[in-house]
Amino acid sequence: MSQNLGDGAERIFDFRSDTVTRPTPRMRQAMMDAVVGDDVFSDDPTVQELERKAALILGMEAALFVPSGTMGNEVAINVWTDPGDEIIVEKRSHIYLYEAAGPALISGVQVCTIETPDGVMPLDQIEASLRDPLDVHCAITSLICIENTHNMHGGRVLPIDYLRELREFSLERRIPIHLDGARIFNASAATGVSPAEYASLADSVMFCLSKGLGAPIGSMVVGSEDFIEKAHRVRKVLGGGMRQVGVIAAPAIIALEEMTGRLRIDNENAKALAEGIADLPGLTLVPDVIDTNIVFARFDPPAPSAEEVAERLEEQGILCIPLGHGLIRFVTHFDVDETDVERLVDALREMLG
Ligand SMILES: Cc1ncc(COP(=O)(O)O)c(C=O)c1O
Repeated sequence: MSQNLGDGAERIFDFRSDTVTRPTPRMRQAMMDAVVGDDVFSDDPTVQELERKAALILGMEAALFVPSGTMGNEVAINVWTDPGDEIIVEKRSHIYLYEAAGPALISGVQVCTIETPDGVMPLDQIEASLRDPLDVHCAITSLICIENTHNMHGGRVLPIDYLRELREFSLERRIPIHLDGARIFNASAATGVSPAEYASLADSVMFCLSKGLGAPIGSMVVGSEDFIEKAHRVRKVLGGGMRQVGVIAAPAIIALEEMTGRLRIDNENAKALAEGIADLPGLTLVPDVIDTNIVFARFDPPAPSAEEVAERLEEQGILCIPLGHGLIRFVTHFDVDETDVERLVDALREMLG
C-alpha cells in the first residue's frame, strides 16, 4: 500500500519522480531516536553506522554520507581528476545534463560526451575518445562515468557483460570508472546482480537514499579508503560537512535495511503501466522495454501535446513531468501502488483511447 500523501488533504498521485517519496513512520521514529554527534568532528555514531553499512553492502572499503546525489557525483569527479583533464560521459547522463556544469565549475575538467540510444557507451567509441596523454595539445582523459540505471534512457539497466568488458578496458588503460548508481538498487532488483557485484566493476559509486529507498535526504559515495579520505576533504570544500546529521542518517539506515527488498514492486508497477498504455494512439514508449521504475512516453498527433496531457492529468490529481520533445516521464515508487497505476492507465486511456 502506498502512503497517504495528502496528510488529510486530497490525495495526489505523484508520478513525477521517486524523489517525492516521504519517510515511513519507522524512519520518522528513527529520526526522533537518533544518537547524534558533530559529524565534522567524526563524532556522529549514526552516520558512522550508515557509512559502515553502505560500504559493506557495496563490498567496498569505505563510504561517505553526502547531502545529495549531485554532490556525490561531483565529489567523485573532483577526487579522480585534475583541472584541465577530460572525463567521458554519456550524452544523456545526469552528470552532463543536470549537474549545472559541475565538472567544469567545481573540478575544472571538460566533458567528452558519447551519444547512445540506450546509455551503453560502446568500447570502441570510448577508445576513440581517449586523448593522447603525451600530446601537449590534448587534455588527459582521467575518468569514465557511467549511469546505472540510466535515468534519461528510461531507467535502462546496463548489461552486466558490458560492464565486465568495460572494467577490463578501464584496467588496461588505467582509467578509473565512476558509477552514478543513483538507482543501483533498482538495477539489482531487476537483474538479481547484487549492488556489490556492480560496485566491483567500478572504482567509485554514488547511490541515492532519497529516491526509491524513501529516505528524506542523502546519498552515499563509496570506494577505497584512500578515495574516501580524499572525498571527505572535497565534501568539506563544497560545504557538505554537516553537524548532528545522525538525524538524517538514521532514516537512511532504515532505507537500507527495509526498502531495498521492495523495489521490484516499483519495477513491476512500471511494467504494468507500460503494458496498460502501449497500444494507445499517438503514444510511443521510448524505450519500449521497461527495465526498472521509469517509463518515458512520447505523445504525437492524434494525441494532445505532452504539456496538455500533463495538464489534464493534473486536473485529476495525477502529476508527471513533461520533458520537452513530446516526452513525459512517469516514475513508480513507494508512494504510488498498483491501484494508482491503474488510475493513471485509465486516465490516459480515457484521454487518448
Ligand atoms: C541518475 C541520477 N544521478 C544523480 C542524481 C542526483 O541526485 P540528487 O537529486 O540527490 O542531487 C539524479 C537525480 O535525479 C539521478 O537521476
